[in-house]
Amino acid sequence: MVHNGIIENYNSLKKLLADKGITCQTDTDTEVLVQFIAYLYKEEKLSVVETIRLALNEVIGAYGIVVLCEDEPDTIISARLGSPLLMGIGENEYFVASDSSPIIEYTRNIVFLDEGELAVIRPDGYEVRNIKANEVISKDINKIQYNLEEIEKGGYDHFMLKEINEQAYTVSEAIRGRLNRDEMRVMLGGIYDWVHQILDAEHIYITACGTSWHAALIGSYILEELLNVPVKVEYASEFRYRVTAVNSNSVVICVSQSGETADTLAAIRKAKEKGALTLGIVNVVGSSISRETHCGVYIHAGPEIGVASTKAFTSQVTIFNLIGLLLADKKSINAEIYHSLMNDLERMPQLVQSVLDHGNDVSDIAQDFVNFSNFLYLGRGYQFPVALEGALKLKEISYIHAEGYPAAEMKHGPIALIDNDMPVVFIVTEKGYEKIVSNIQEVRARGGQIIIVSTELNDELKDYSDHIIHVPKVHHCLQSVLTNIPLQLLAYNIAVLKGCDVDMPRNLAKSVTVE
Ligand code: AGP
Repeated sequence: MVHNGIIENYNSLKKLLADKGITCQTDTDTEVLVQFIAYLYKEEKLSVVETIRLALNEVIGAYGIVVLCEDEPDTIISARLGSPLLMGIGENEYFVASDSSPIIEYTRNIVFLDEGELAVIRPDGYEVRNIKANEVISKDINKIQYNLEEIEKGGYDHFMLKEINEQAYTVSEAIRGRLNRDEMRVMLGGIYDWVHQILDAEHIYITACGTSWHAALIGSYILEELLNVPVKVEYASEFRYRVTAVNSNSVVICVSQSGETADTLAAIRKAKEKGALTLGIVNVVGSSISRETHCGVYIHAGPEIGVASTKAFTSQVTIFNLIGLLLADKKSINAEIYHSLMNDLERMPQLVQSVLDHGNDVSDIAQDFVNFSNFLYLGRGYQFPVALEGALKLKEISYIHAEGYPAAEMKHGPIALIDNDMPVVFIVTEKGYEKIVSNIQEVRARGGQIIIVSTELNDELKDYSDHIIHVPKVHHCLQSVLTNIPLQLLAYNIAVLKGCDVDMPRNLAKSVTVE
């Protein structure tokens, strides 16, 4: 058996097996499950398929499994609960995978297994059944949308660097076909029928994990500012277990690159149980979250292979701006803001490219900071989530401890950390310029090493730091798309200089499909 997931009641199953004189060779929950299936197979004298179905009805937890039995060597049995699983339908051959990227070179025809489904594959065909009710289910065959090249490095040393450098294209893909310049309107077919329900909502929640949570935080600022409604941002792992005020007048937006993150999926299911309208902002087409939410918007960033999410973040923020404009248009937003944001949205691909064209400036700076063991990232307003994201990128691929903070919060504790060994990355924009310059002075006064990513370029900033990365100025709702990219490159270059496995950092998975 191959298993992706966590069997939560494996201890009680293990005890049951021990009472039957069956001992496991390992401490893994996976072995307990296969031993349990083998035990039932011997006891119940049922077919392999029926035995597995019976066993799975006793299991609590999450699993994506593939099982083979020597008595039926030509039969592959796979089943999912929680963890993603799909079948590839080839020419006289079948594949089972947790994601489409490993099978695209063999077939583009895939069948997604939904929650609580089991598939039986034999040389002459396949059948999908519901594990509980044991009914046969007819399944649609979907086509994989992307090409093989998109999941190759394309001459880059790492997928992460390739994906960082794709962002001018991916941001344009997020916008493509969604900005009607003639009528100055945003078109998002995936949520169009729900616009009024969203606008009438009592509460708007946004839930996500990791980098997607940072994009969600920026999304909440954009929606609050453009719609003048309160928007709450929630870590999905907390939201799914906390007693919240979610009800049938709520809208719960979930953000997920993979569309398979277990906590976010569970948060969505909980919101649906409470009658809320659920809206997904997702990258992977056909993923569980895109299939289980009521409506949504694909970010069209293409496959993101590097574990550290980069292009998905800039596309997620771009999509929040599109959603904000679409909804605000119905609420007669201030025309000046509307037009300047529309204009800047259209300029974004070329502005992103202009930031990427100065990527080498960042690799030079990285040389000077590769040996530090702690970093602080500080930003204000829309740049606070960018500080969080910059710190996460450095942590997850270079294993250097880093923290992101609202710059003003520094005086309430973190300033105690500042000395000659503490690099501090400031994200400086026009908004709150004076305030953040005084924070820079506070760090400078205590000998902190200062790196500045800024839309402002002047002698004052040059006085405070030798390491300044300039980015173009755009509407503040979009600015984080540009200020974030040098921080992606800083983390990438430091990690490469440290010899880290940038695409597959230790202890991390691209999609966290277990709790
Ligand atoms: C980000 O670089 C990490 N890979 C991780 O924090 C990720 O953002 C998080 O697991 C959420 O993933 P999702 O967007 O696929 O739901």
